[in-house]
Formats: sequence, C-alpha cells, structure tokens
Amino acid sequence: MHKLLTLVLLTVSSVLSAAISDTVPNYNIIPRPNTILSNDFRSSIDALNIYIDNSYYTPYLKKLFEGIDNVKWTKKEDANVVFEPIESLDHESYTLSIGSDKVSIKANGSTGLQYGLTTLAQIVQNDGWPLPVLLISDSPKYEYRGMHLDVVRHFFSVDEVKKYLDFMAYYKFNKFHWHLTDDQGWRIEIKKYPKLQEVAAYRKETLIGHYNDVPQKYDGKRYGGYYTQDQIKEIVQYAADRHITVIPEIELPGHVKAALAAYPELGCEDKKYETATTWGVFEDVLCPNAFTFEFLEGVMDEVIQLFPGKYIHVGGDECPRDAWKRSAFCQEFMRRHNIENEAGIQSYFIQRIEQYINSKGKQIIGWDEILEGGLADNATVMSWRGTEGGIQAARMDHNVIMTPGSHCYFDYYQSESPDEPIAIGGYIPLEKVYKWDPTPTELEDNKKRFILGGQANLWTEYIATFSHLEYMAYARAMAMSEALWSKSKDYLQFLDRFEKHNDFWRVKGVNIAFHAYDLKPVVQAGDGLPIRLSFEVPYGTKVAYQFNDGKVKPFSKDGPMIISQSGKYIFSAGKGDRHGNPLKINFNLHKGTKAKLKLRDMPSVKYAGNGPGSLVNGVLGSDNKYGGTEWLGFEGKDCEGLLGWDDIEKIKYVTFRFFNGIGQWIYLPKAVEVSYSKDGLNYKTIQYKGDIETSSKVATIKVPVKAKAKYLKFKITNYGEIPSGAQGAGYRAWLFVDEIVVE
Ligand code: ACM
Repeated sequence: MHKLLTLVLLTVSSVLSAAISDTVPNYNIIPRPNTILSNDFRSSIDALNIYIDNSYYTPYLKKLFEGIDNVKWTKKEDANVVFEPIESLDHESYTLSIGSDKVSIKANGSTGLQYGLTTLAQIVQNDGWPLPVLLISDSPKYEYRGMHLDVVRHFFSVDEVKKYLDFMAYYKFNKFHWHLTDDQGWRIEIKKYPKLQEVAAYRKETLIGHYNDVPQKYDGKRYGGYYTQDQIKEIVQYAADRHITVIPEIELPGHVKAALAAYPELGCEDKKYETATTWGVFEDVLCPNAFTFEFLEGVMDEVIQLFPGKYIHVGGDECPRDAWKRSAFCQEFMRRHNIENEAGIQSYFIQRIEQYINSKGKQIIGWDEILEGGLADNATVMSWRGTEGGIQAARMDHNVIMTPGSHCYFDYYQSESPDEPIAIGGYIPLEKVYKWDPTPTELEDNKKRFILGGQANLWTEYIATFSHLEYMAYARAMAMSEALWSKSKDYLQFLDRFEKHNDFWRVKGVNIAFHAYDLKPVVQAGDGLPIRLSFEVPYGTKVAYQFNDGKVKPFSKDGPMIISQSGKYIFSAGKGDRHGNPLKINFNLHKGTKAKLKLRDMPSVKYAGNGPGSLVNGVLGSDNKYGGTEWLGFEGKDCEGLLGWDDIEKIKYVTFRFFNGIGQWIYLPKAVEVSYSKDGLNYKTIQYKGDIETSSKVATIKVPVKAKAKYLKFKITNYGEIPSGAQGAGYRAWLFVDEIVVE
C-alpha cells in the first residue's frame, strides 16, 4: 500500500493540502495524534540525523531511538531532523512535519519536543523506512495523565521503576503517583525516623494465594525494602528527564500499620503493632496525639525536600474509626476540639496536614474520602470509589483526578480466561479502558474544567514481579494513554495500532498481554425466547466453534447462534496468525432458560453482566471471579424478580448461586425466599431455612419447591451493613448472583 516516492518535489504543506484526515493511514502512533495530514506518499528519508541544542537535550531523547539503525545524533550542519522553538504553542503541544528530505519539530520547549520525537520514534519503530510524508499537530486532551504504582504490597527496584517510567514516557503520561507507604511496608527513607527503615520497611511474611481463600496461607518469608533518599532523588530526576512529575503518597491516617510497628506511640492503643502480612483495611490507625503530628510534620519536611512537584498525596482512604471510638484520649480530643464524631478526627487529620503542606508551598491530593468533612480550596480529589466523589468535588470547585475502580484499576482481571494469573477480582478489559472518558457526562458544563484528567492505578497485592507488572499494566496503559490524550478515538482502529505496539514490546522481551481476540460472549436470555449467543469482535476477525467433541465449524456472521442443546461449546477467534484464548462455555438448559424474567431493581451498571437475562442463560458464573458476563452485582440492594412461563411447569427445585468475596465487600445474602403461583395472583411462599455460608468463593443453595407453577417470584435479601472491623465496614454490602437454575 505504501509507495516509495523518490521524487517528492513539492513542499510538505502543498502536498498535504488535499489530505483527508479520516482516510489517512495511522502510522501506528499511540496515543493517536489530533490530526495527521498525509496522502500516503513516502519521503526519501531512510536515516535520521538529529540535532538538538544542548539546552533542550535530555538523555531520554537518545534512549528513545536506541536500537534503531540509521539514527545518529549530529552537528547542526548535518542534521535532517531539526527543532524549532515556537513560543505561542502550549508546553505539551507539538507539530511534526516530515517532508521529502527533512523532519521538523515545532514546540514551545523540551516537553513538546520530547513528545514530537516520541511520535517520530514510534513512526520509525512501527511503520518503518522510508518515512511517510506527513504533518502532525498534536496536543493532549487532559493535562493530568497519570499512572500509579504501589511499591508497598510488592517492592520494585530502582531499575524497575525506571523501566515503568520509560514506558509511561513512551505513551506521553506525565504524572507518576508513587504509593510509598501502607500497612504492609514503609518504602521511603526518612532520616529523622530510622526505625521506619529498620522495622517498618519489612514484614515477617506474606499472604499467598487469594485473600478470599479459606483458609488463608502465608509464605513464612521476611519481605521488604525501601528506597534511600539518594535513590528517590535519582528516580525523581529520571522522571523529570521524561517530563513526568512524581507525586509521592504518604498514607494517613489509616493504612499505617507499618509505621505503627516502628513507632507504636503513633497509635491509640497500648499494644504490639506489626507490619501487615495480609491485604485489606486494618483498624490500627494514627492517633491524633502530639507525637503523631510531630512525626507527620517531620516526615513531610523530608518528603517535600525530595519531591519538587507541587503535589503531595496524603491518602485519606479506608480509615476505620474503631480505634478512635475505643480510645479515651480520642474521646477527650474530640471534646477539646469540638469535634462531633469520629469522622471529624479524619477531617482534622487531613485539614491539619493540608495546612502544614500548604505552608510549605505545596498542595495536597487525597482519595475521595477526604471530601467527608470539608477541605481547603486547593485540595485535589482523586475519585476512586466511582465517579461520584469526583463529581461532588468538581461541583465544589475542587480539582479532580478521576480514577474510578470501574475503569482504572489495572490489578483487576483483563481477560475472562480461566488461565489468567490470580488477580484481585473484577474485570476491566482493554476496550473498557479505551472507551473511558474521565469527564462524567452528568457533570455540568461549567464544572468540567475541574476534571484535570485521569489515572490508572496499579495495586500490587497480586503482582509480585516486574514481569507480571508488565502483563497487568502495559497493554491497558496504551489504551489509557489514548483515553487521556486523544481528542478522537476509535477502538477498532486502535486495535490495529495496538497489535503493532504489542509486537514491538514482545520483541524486546516485555511480558505484554494480548487479549484483543479473547471472546466476550453476549448471551441473550430471560425473554421467553430461545437462548441466543453472539460476539462483538474487531473487524476482520474469524470465529470458529466446536460443540461437544464434534467438528470445528465457522461461527455464522449472519446473526446470533441459537443454543438449543445443553453441552460444551469451545469458541476461538483470530485474525491472521493472531488468536485469542479459546472460550469454553457449558450451556446447561433448564426450565429457567425459557422463562421470561423481570427484575425489580437492575444490577449496578458496573456489574451488569449481559443484563438480567444472565441469571437464566444456562451458564454458570465463574467459581473464582466475579465481574464478567455472568455475575450480576447489586450494590447494597436486594435482588428480587419474577420468572414466568407460557404454560404451567412442574418445578422441583430452584437453585441459586452467590459469590462470596468479603475482601471486595461482596457478601452472601441474609435470606432467600421463593414464591410460586399458577395464576399470578395467589402465591405460596417458601423461606429458605438452611444456613447460607460457605468455605469457598461460591455458595449454592437449593430450595425445594415440588409444585406446579406458571409464576415464580424470588427475593434475595442483601447482607446489609458490613460489620465493623471488616473491609468496607459501615457500607452496605454487594450481593452477586448467578445463576438461578429452575428444575
Ligand atoms: C484505594 O484503592 N484504596 C484508593
């Protein structure tokens, strides 16, 4: 398709004047630039001689082109790649023009220059020589484009953090949120408090397997580490050389067990604290005493010296108040400070530290819990428990960074394949990340400017090695980079570019995930019609299937497949020599699969499966993972519904399945009730009498009916408020259901 034009005599702008941006090739640039003008001509450029004035040069620029033949850094006279500073451009904007024999980058300084050269490097790496003739003008959609890394749950070396920063820079991220302290370790050297290094940086062992496993198991091995201040400075400089600002997070007043282990005076209780060896939320939190505030100020003094950016992240999330309730000191503290309840202690902490940090010329960021109780004007809110906190903050004229668990948590599963390495839970595939926009549509137009951008979070409870980190983060980071940078997006077109980039990293030995051809089933059921199965696949994808042990057949493109027989189906998809993981589905048709289903309340949009019909589509939700197409999640609500048939049916049993994941606030129901009727008017009710408990992740209960009925109502009562001491204490539990089998 690409033509080699050795004689491109026209100037770039006149060659391109007739270009139509929709139809131009994409040159495999991620994130997709704002505009590419090109008409698919090739220049004569098959080598780059780059000249960058010393005042703009950083070692990273050279690193960008490492390993590419035909790239040299030269004197001005010999250069065919030149930089022109243009003061009128925004600092992150650039234009890149590739003419017949010369490349020019225009930008307002070194940030735009880096982005322009990054785009040029990607064209060379993914599109090849000779370079295409084109004109790109580009600037980001959002000013805050962040990636987060938790180095507490698992520790990553200086070199590994640098690799992460390189990857971020390649995709034009500009904020690195470094989660440095938590219950399971303290990872930043604080010279005033040496026991943070000696004690808090280590834990005696670590949970293995999943938190929800019963019983929990431990590895018995001491684990830990920290960054010296010199190493921190080295990383901050390394990031700055890539135009990435590092935002350190020092958690308070919760998530501090490691600090308490080192300095028990920070706590309210006279007991031996230990660095946590398992995950979750703990009742051991900071006590608002004089030692604690002196400690926090001492820590912040050193942190502020190390990080030149304007933001210090102070955490603020998931702080149980039980220890404050039990403490006579805290009760007296509340009286003295006119604080009405324990929630006020949390606000007191945040406001007091905020004032201190502000007095040093810096601003705070906190997780959305910091909204509870009032904030200073310049506090920035990071919205993680959904977007509501961010919306509320923006309406109060606070700056907001969106990072909702529904789209931005890269520790969640990215594929539904049962072969995936163990992850915390949930399901956030590439496409979901790609299609995300940090600005909620319901936010009023005049408040949208407070949404500074978004961030992907990488919590590392289940990510112990850098190779696994690459697997979890990198593919989705590419999608995120486009969600945050690009003003126009197109998922299928992105997949084309994504494949090229995926190959690029794979060749370098990077453990990058590729799930673009994993099939996500759309199973329609619950409408009284036969079960229908279809797939949404990228253009050009071929899908095949095998039923039981029969022949492999192509999956018809003409419409959904009717599932009229129980049995094992295996589907596979691919394009060219790329294939997704095979998808195995066991359909088990039962009386419920031909019923009409109505639900009183819809499941949460975050966990809606394929709609209510997922409850009666003949497919069981995974034994290990919630999320995905089968499990329906009800946030704090009951699940009530009605199944109806055209004729009277003989019903023996109704079986329900529930997910049990208290680490993720998912609880088994309090009660289950089934009512049946022949006429839809007079119902007989059966209350499930047995206990609803389980030692595994899925609980099944079977309700004997033994009656004839045309209508069947079910009422599954949510567990209710999560008890004190547990994760999510005080919130209403989630209820996850699938499937309702009627026999
Ligand atoms: C968080 O995920 N606890 C902010």
